[in-house]
Amino acid sequence: MSQIPEQVIDQVRFASDIVSVVSGYLTLRQKGRNFFGLCPFHKEKTPSFSVNQDLQIFHCFGCGAGGNVFTFIMKIEGLTFIESVKLLAKQAGITLPEDVENYDQYREKEALYFANKLAAQLYQESIRTESAAEARQYLNSRGITDDEFETFGIGYAPNSWDALIRAATAKSLNIEVLHRAGLVIKKDGGSFYDRFRGRITFAIVNLTGQVVGFGARRILNDNSPKYINSPETDIYQKRYILYGLYQSRDTIRSNDQVIIVEGYTDLTSLFRSHIRNVVATSGTALTEDHARLLRRYTSNAILLYDADSAGAAAALRGADILLENGMEVKICIMPPGLDPDEFARTKGDEEVKRLLASAVPLMEFKLNKFESIQHGSTSQKASGTRDILASIAKVNDPIRRSFLVRDLAERLKIDESSLWNEIGHIERQYRFRVPGEEKQADEKDTFFETSKGTAELGLLQVAMRHPNLIGRIVKNLNIDNIEHSEIRLLFQNFLKGVDPLTFKPQDYLTAIQDAKIAAKLSDLMMQENPHPKPWEFARDCLIRLHLALVDTEIKRVKEKMKPAAGVEPDLKSLMDELVYYLGERKKIQSGEYIVE
Ligand code: UTP
Ligand code: MN
Repeated sequence: MSQIPEQVIDQVRFASDIVSVVSGYLTLRQKGRNFFGLCPFHKEKTPSFSVNQDLQIFHCFGCGAGGNVFTFIMKIEGLTFIESVKLLAKQAGITLPEDVENYDQYREKEALYFANKLAAQLYQESIRTESAAEARQYLNSRGITDDEFETFGIGYAPNSWDALIRAATAKSLNIEVLHRAGLVIKKDGGSFYDRFRGRITFAIVNLTGQVVGFGARRILNDNSPKYINSPETDIYQKRYILYGLYQSRDTIRSNDQVIIVEGYTDLTSLFRSHIRNVVATSGTALTEDHARLLRRYTSNAILLYDADSAGAAAALRGADILLENGMEVKICIMPPGLDPDEFARTKGDEEVKRLLASAVPLMEFKLNKFESIQHGSTSQKASGTRDILASIAKVNDPIRRSFLVRDLAERLKIDESSLWNEIGHIERQYRFRVPGEEKQADEKDTFFETSKGTAELGLLQVAMRHPNLIGRIVKNLNIDNIEHSEIRLLFQNFLKGVDPLTFKPQDYLTAIQDAKIAAKLSDLMMQENPHPKPWEFARDCLIRLHLALVDTEIKRVKEKMKPAAGVEPDLKSLMDELVYYLGERKKIQSGEYIVE
């Protein structure tokens, strides 16, 4: 099922206590055997999210989310199972085998992290020194107070050619590593000098809180670039990193919305205005990777961009990318001449709230914009229409799509069908959607809605709650006929022998990889008495499972009875077969085959 060996997965799960892992995301309070907190997966005021340390499972009595430590990480970080194992392994200090294969690469990355950490420390210390008086004064004049430096990773790069080089040498860090980390620049002669000098630094951190690079602002309005940034490195890929996400992701998740701005200071000022679900693109265009990253936390975005045409154009480009990646997008354009930073500082919290509330859905924004070109030339109108249709084509919800098309048709006073035609065109041109992974998940989803799926899951559930019945269940079960690979695997393990007296459900619960099964089981384990008559329940599941098998046979025979091209079906023998299976079906249904 995975490319990580089972023993290693076991090692990771034993090292990852669910209470401490969950505590990294929310505050838990102990009440009896369970821990409680506010559910990170839905909005609530009283804690209904519970964690059971004995069973190593979580369950929310409010929204029904549940599972083990791996599925918790999958859900909260939006990761796959394997990625969750990797993340927890890293936190537990366990080296995964494949890391060892890429040991050089691993060591190189660690070195780059170390270099950035060292730089961050130097800059952080420097901002408190006398030599940074001017920097502090400048920051204060822009509303950033000293006690906010840490929150936003704000520091000061000393005004020297080798402050960082000296600090690194003192820690025996090779200058080549500083160079590969983009923190120093190599001169033609081969010697090095610090990249950031006499500037205010904004540390850019990844999702595990490690510094990967810096944006550095000038203090004086000289002719140098306003910001100097770290270049791309092995650990800093700009298409994948958003400034502030590490600090804001919890709020993004709980508000179920993200506000996207362009600049570092836009973010810091919004934070101060108590808007904490913000990320900044730091001058790079929004990418598909950014969209996917954000999508882990919310599917609602507001783009808060400058009013100038560059700002509006960037907002629209970003909006399309977010839309294509399944997000609902609103656009909020600043009043002319102000950026979010200045707005927040000069107008106050209430005005900021009002501004954000005035954000309009992308489509409406486009339609409004379209009104202004209504009076343009025919070709302008046509290209404007196509642009809007391109966005509509990306809307996944078919009902919303129909409304948008109707609305557009009314505004343009043309008939809907020509618009639908054009959408069809656009789709054929641009849609290459083969989301393999999603499809697989869908198939699994519907499996548990079938009679067979619920029967297989049901048997697993009884087995977990009533291990004394495991023997009787497997006696009645041909394990190879279990369709779901993970349930089959678990029963194969049961087959090796289970002592009902020493059976520990947690040994199996934490090992479950399928999030859906994990959720259903944790829900069940939290209930008082889910199956008042467990054997009756198991019996019913077994019968349904056997019925499903015989039904497949019946279907096959019926298929064969249909005359196919050129082949005459042997109706007599097929009929015999059918009668036999129908008889079996009756017997199964009456419970004749169940060994009590
Ligand atoms: P802005 O020009 O809007 O700057 O660029 P800003 O955020 O308002 O900066 P302040 O308020 O004057 O300090 C938006 C973002 O683009 C990047 C920075 O990340 C900046 O926050 N940028 C801008 C650069 O990388 N280099 C530059 O020279 C300018
Ligand atoms: Mn600004």
